[in-house]
Amino acid sequence: MVRRALAARSPDEPGRAHGRTRQVRALNDRRTAGPQESCGRNEERTLSNHPVGIHDLSVATGSHVIGLDELAARHGVDPGKYHVGLGQDEMSVLAPDEDIVTLAAAAAQPIVERHGTVGLRTVLFATESGIDQSKAAGVFVHRLLDLPVTARVVELKQACYSGTAALQMAAALVARDPSEKVLVITSDVARYDVGSSAEATQGAAAVAMLVTADPALLEIEPVTGVHTEDVMDFWRPNHRSTALVDGKASVEAYLRAADGAWTDYVARGGAAFDDVAAFAYHQPFTRMATKAHRHLAKAARTRLDRDEVDAQIATSTTYNRRVGNSYTASLYLALAAILDDGSLADGDRIAMVSYGSGAVCEVFSAVLRPGYRDATRAAETRALLDARTPVTDERYLELHRDHDSSAPDRTNPVETSGPFRFVGVEGHKRIYAPASEA
Ligand code: HMG
Repeated sequence: MVRRALAARSPDEPGRAHGRTRQVRALNDRRTAGPQESCGRNEERTLSNHPVGIHDLSVATGSHVIGLDELAARHGVDPGKYHVGLGQDEMSVLAPDEDIVTLAAAAAQPIVERHGTVGLRTVLFATESGIDQSKAAGVFVHRLLDLPVTARVVELKQACYSGTAALQMAAALVARDPSEKVLVITSDVARYDVGSSAEATQGAAAVAMLVTADPALLEIEPVTGVHTEDVMDFWRPNHRSTALVDGKASVEAYLRAADGAWTDYVARGGAAFDDVAAFAYHQPFTRMATKAHRHLAKAARTRLDRDEVDAQIATSTTYNRRVGNSYTASLYLALAAILDDGSLADGDRIAMVSYGSGAVCEVFSAVLRPGYRDATRAAETRALLDARTPVTDERYLELHRDHDSSAPDRTNPVETSGPFRFVGVEGHKRIYAPASEA
């Protein structure tokens, strides 16, 4: 990994992007000033004196996996197209008794076990694979994990981007009251039509994050850059269970939006490109991160050479290569890979590039907290990926077809290796339970 002059500064020292003292002072000045005194763009909105960020992060994925060689054979393409051209080796496949709720609960459970629920006031569930047009999927998770009745629960959607919106909202809530904690869960299953060129870019995962004051892993910096543009590059109408996509246009839209969000981030006082140790991108396929990163490096006129630029994202792709696209979770899986690798130093800065088709992109940055390695879950995540059961192409095709069932009553076979099951549907009501009750 490339590391530029960041490690020398403690993340708690005041600096350009850490100027909490200055920021709080500006806020207090605003409070005592009359209403005619407007808030300058660069004045701070942070209300507390505590750093706010990600205290814990935990990953879950499907019980099954398919190697992309199987797909290449059916599609009649050279496997190199997937391994090199897309940068993907495998994709996670859900068992019939798994969905975004069981993945989300599996990801969040270790966080609840480690930290308890004291102070947990909010659960933000980000997904674009919603299972109900009305009820938030997080309410099912709330029961499965026995979360406090005094925690609000809501679902957020904007393609792959909404996890970042959730994280920013969580940071704002904790900044308002540092005694509060927010559980952010990103959970998705990426599904395209069988036989389409997008089929090799499916996958599934959930990443749960506990957002607190004085976090153990990462402090989220206050500056962010945003780019929104109405574009039909990827969408899923309500009547479809698979997404529609204009593949080439989606790549172009991603690059344009990343450019726009990065420009806004820099204009608002964000870090210089060369002051970032590692970048994490939304990864619909890992080569997309390479494309976007080279694109930003060029636009930023970096002093780094091409190998150094590529090194800034190398570690971030290791989990996504094996999981496939997990939509809202994908960016945070990239972050998990960087944290678990552990080669960045305390105080290093990570830039996060969050793209969601349609399209919204946000760039923000976070700084590694002292001793962050002690709070990662590297062994658990690697074991989870290694433990998936390989399925044949024939079995994968059956699972893909059965996912579409909208039967008002059905019982799912017991198959998951995860801690929670999607038991079935009774009178249009989805039933979930701990796997131990099967
Ligand atoms: P395609 O048209 O089948 O692939 O679909 P291709 O012909 O463009 O080939 C892909 C790459 O493989 C090319 O490299 C080829 O040269 C190379 P590139 O020109 O891009 O550098 N290649 C080979 N390399 C080595 N050995 C070989 C070989 N053969 C070819 N033998 C496409 C590709 C990505 C369009 C398709 O998979 C797709 O539509 N995927 C879904 C859409 C998608 O992922 N878009 C990404 C941006 S949008 C996004 O990120 C949002 C999203 O996550 C949704 C959300 O926000 O919710 C999708």
